[in-house]
Amino acid sequence: MSTSTILRRALLYVPGSSSKFLQKAQYTVVDTLCCDLEDSVTPAQKKHARSNIRNFLEQDRPPNISELSVRINAVPTGLAHEDLKSILQTPGSNNLDAIVVPKVNRASDLHYINDVIRLRLPERHPGTPSPTSNPLKIIALIESAEAIMNLNEICRASPYLSGLIFAAEDFALDLSLTRTPSLTEFLYARSAIATAARAHNLPSTIDLVCTKYKGEEGQRTLEEECLQGKGLGFNGKQVIHPYQIPVTQKAFSPGQAEVEWAVRLVIGDEKAARAGRGAWTLEGKMIDVPVIGKARATVRKAELCGMDVDAIREKWKGQEPE
Ligand code: COA
Ligand code: MG
Repeated sequence: MSTSTILRRALLYVPGSSSKFLQKAQYTVVDTLCCDLEDSVTPAQKKHARSNIRNFLEQDRPPNISELSVRINAVPTGLAHEDLKSILQTPGSNNLDAIVVPKVNRASDLHYINDVIRLRLPERHPGTPSPTSNPLKIIALIESAEAIMNLNEICRASPYLSGLIFAAEDFALDLSLTRTPSLTEFLYARSAIATAARAHNLPSTIDLVCTKYKGEEGQRTLEEECLQGKGLGFNGKQVIHPYQIPVTQKAFSPGQAEVEWAVRLVIGDEKAARAGRGAWTLEGKMIDVPVIGKARATVRKAELCGMDVDAIREKWKGQEPE
């Protein structure tokens, strides 16, 4: 089970060409903000979007955004070089935490990006940690059948790689699929992505966009999609509208009942261990090493999500193993 300290429950795209959206985004509370230079920006607006994003990065860092990222254009478009230059060659690059790379089909799609980052910002390489360093991260978008077949090599392609994102719309285009509400047509690809990321110890797996975002039905569909994605092993989701953030971040946080159960297990296990018992029971359920491992991970995640775990510990301090 991943014990990552990176939280990317929601990744909000903001079209880089829209000064209005970027302005609005500054006050948005979200784990990861992704200023977009790719598909939400028309070719004629790319230059303008680069300049907007540079300005955005050069402002004071909004405290309500945990991670600032930029989605560049894919390397074969010929636009990636200008994109990288504009976001890496600015004092604002200090505020840039991650680069989201679209249409990564094979390992070589990341090699060029690795080289440019290494050359322009050598101090941000994850292999040169210092107390002040904030290693730059890459999050790769998986959008094609070829990418799914090459997941192993992609996961090994970059020391900066910190997560994978599944892009359903481009994947559907590639396979001539039609997206259905059940999302079963994406099951193999999503499961492959979550499994590969875990196998390579990448902390993040970010699920498809829920394209419905308006009204109660939009919120209900979003929540169902989040829970389905979580069940497949994803720990976050791409969102396109600020309205989608609260539901998404809640769905990818542990629930109150889940955390209470985990805390009871951890407290009970400490006492069981002192009494020399490796396996014990709670409410008729057998508790052993993997169950406790998962409980500890749930408690850590709850702390990371800002839940008041101390209060829950206090409530259950008398928990005894049965
Ligand atoms: N980021 C920041 N702010 C956003 C936003 C976003 N992605 N989407 C909407 N907002 C803001 C609007 O500026 C508006 O602010 P206001 O109330 O101060 O005027 C408010 O949220 C409500 O917006 P709304 O009118 O409901 O949305 P819209 O109809 O203007 O735009 C979309 C709808 C889908 C076009 C827009 O949300 C969007 O462009 N999302 C991102 C799409 C994208 O990046 N796609 C590529 C990746 S898949
Ligand atoms: Mg795409």
